[in-house]
Amino acid sequence: MCGIFGCILKEGSAAPLIHSSLKRLEYRGYDSVGIATISSGKIHMKKDQGKIDEVHKILDLDNLPGKIGIGHTRWATHGAPLKINSHPHTDCRGEIVVVHNGIIENFMELKSELQNLGHTFVSKTDTEVMPHLIEEMLKQNPKLTLEQAVMESLKRIDGSYAFAIISTREPDKIICARNESPLVLGINGKDVFCASDIPAFLEVTNKAVMINNYELVILTADGYSIKKIPDGRIIERAPIVVDWTAEMAEKRGYPHFMIKEINEQPQTLRNTLRIQDHYLDLLSTFLDRANEVFLVACGTSYHACLAASYMFSKLAFLPTFPVYASEFLEQCGKSVNIDSTILAVSQSGETADTIGAVTCAQQRAATVLSLTNVIGSTLTRVSRVYIGTQAGPEIGVAATKTFTSQLSVLAQLALKLAIKRGKISQDEMDLLEEQLQNIPEYVEHIVATQEEKIKEIAKKYAKSKVFFFLGRGISTATAFEGRLKLMEIAYIPSIAFPAGESKHGPISLIEEGFPVVFVCPQDDTHKTIIGNIMEMKARGAHIIAVVEEGDENIKALADEYIEVPKGIPTILSPIPFAVPLQLLAYHTALEKGLNPDMPRNLAKSVTVK
Ligand code: AGP
Repeated sequence: MCGIFGCILKEGSAAPLIHSSLKRLEYRGYDSVGIATISSGKIHMKKDQGKIDEVHKILDLDNLPGKIGIGHTRWATHGAPLKINSHPHTDCRGEIVVVHNGIIENFMELKSELQNLGHTFVSKTDTEVMPHLIEEMLKQNPKLTLEQAVMESLKRIDGSYAFAIISTREPDKIICARNESPLVLGINGKDVFCASDIPAFLEVTNKAVMINNYELVILTADGYSIKKIPDGRIIERAPIVVDWTAEMAEKRGYPHFMIKEINEQPQTLRNTLRIQDHYLDLLSTFLDRANEVFLVACGTSYHACLAASYMFSKLAFLPTFPVYASEFLEQCGKSVNIDSTILAVSQSGETADTIGAVTCAQQRAATVLSLTNVIGSTLTRVSRVYIGTQAGPEIGVAATKTFTSQLSVLAQLALKLAIKRGKISQDEMDLLEEQLQNIPEYVEHIVATQEEKIKEIAKKYAKSKVFFFLGRGISTATAFEGRLKLMEIAYIPSIAFPAGESKHGPISLIEEGFPVVFVCPQDDTHKTIIGNIMEMKARGAHIIAVVEEGDENIKALADEYIEVPKGIPTILSPIPFAVPLQLLAYHTALEKGLNPDMPRNLAKSVTVK
């Protein structure tokens, strides 16, 4: 998830505005920044790795000539956060300049095709194929206009994109295009703007034109025109007025980053479904060959590891050992060896305990693999193979979208492993792949249909002194995550454990009205968990059950119930079942007048041991 911006001004210089607009998009990514303008038929470009303020100090991003320009602030997905991979990217002759937000899925084959046609690539990014593709279209058919060459190039692109393109061939325009990645125009009757998000131009206008999927835009000093990709049909669309403050807009109208990020999950989950097969294959091959696999992480990422241990075992018959990174040295430090494989999971890729664990393992010649949301982070630099979870910058301290993205990638790895190990039938595989594709819509449905009910439950139990979170099987991991969310942002002491453990001690805490959250997918554990619910009810507990739609048995037993769509395969169930628990924690924090984004004593990335 990056931020792109472009503008055509009637008078004045574009660079300072592009610079300040990228600043307002910096929450979308801050690995590198770059600006390109056109003046007297020449391209002027400045770019480098690092945060905008740091790069500006060195390069002075305001000092480029020209009224027309584009810019980019990067969240690295393909290619480390280095100057060579920073946007804008150009064609061989530097005449076509492109900034991009999204993932070009078929960039590998396009790149080798263009290289065979003599194009020279300088970066490791997927984006660089686009300026070369446009150049090749114009080389093969010089009669094409820039717009036509872009349209032809887009027909070859698979994946998500928001592009902004300028060229010395037609120096009076910016061409943009969108599929999935957000793109919006800003209009103020004098100048025109294009951006990944409204915050970018809110200082200069609040009149916005939303661009839909498969639409191409031509911006000139006279305004904008929208055309359908690929047939070029003209689309009329008037601007809308947005009543947001710049600060609010960063939250896209949501009161807090946390609730915004909860609502971003359908999109971030779709992003995980676009991860290159090549990487999933590579990482699952290492897991398949491993003698022993440790799943190492902290906090929410550890809960993803716990869920993964069920996924790998149930689907691929691969036993794995989830270990708290902060305990790895003590628990496994002496036994880990050259035949050991570590799969470390970390949203930030900078958590000191996790880095410490993988460093220890590396020193004992173990193989280190990882999942992280921050390409270029320390963890990626110490990993043999890593996969980026594509969730974009997560600003709320409480991990939400990064958790469900981790689970989606881990489920895809478990599926790859099961196929490699011949542990899964074609039908099972097809069902799982189909359900994986449906998960984003399921999460959308849950937020849309259950949030009001969850608000009521939060209002009713916000004063509770303590909470229990119980689950069986893979839902134990979901229960642990629900517990962590409520503790870290609503400050309610909460206990979670496998429901089967209740009668071995914790049930002694139960008194009349004690809130107990049960995570109850209709899987092999369904029957037994009904017994656990009865045990708790018999002692006066108030049952808050997260159930599948139509689960009348548990709904009849529960004091409150929250529904998720039915028929979701067990190994995927933590994704949709975690969302109601994220919302419960969020609304309970609000009920208690707390700021869910800035919980006390916590930091987004714990870089101290
Ligand atoms: C989760 O909401 C917390 N922010 C925290 O537990 C977090 O998951 C933990 O610090 C691990 O962070 P990481 O995924 O960046 O390594």
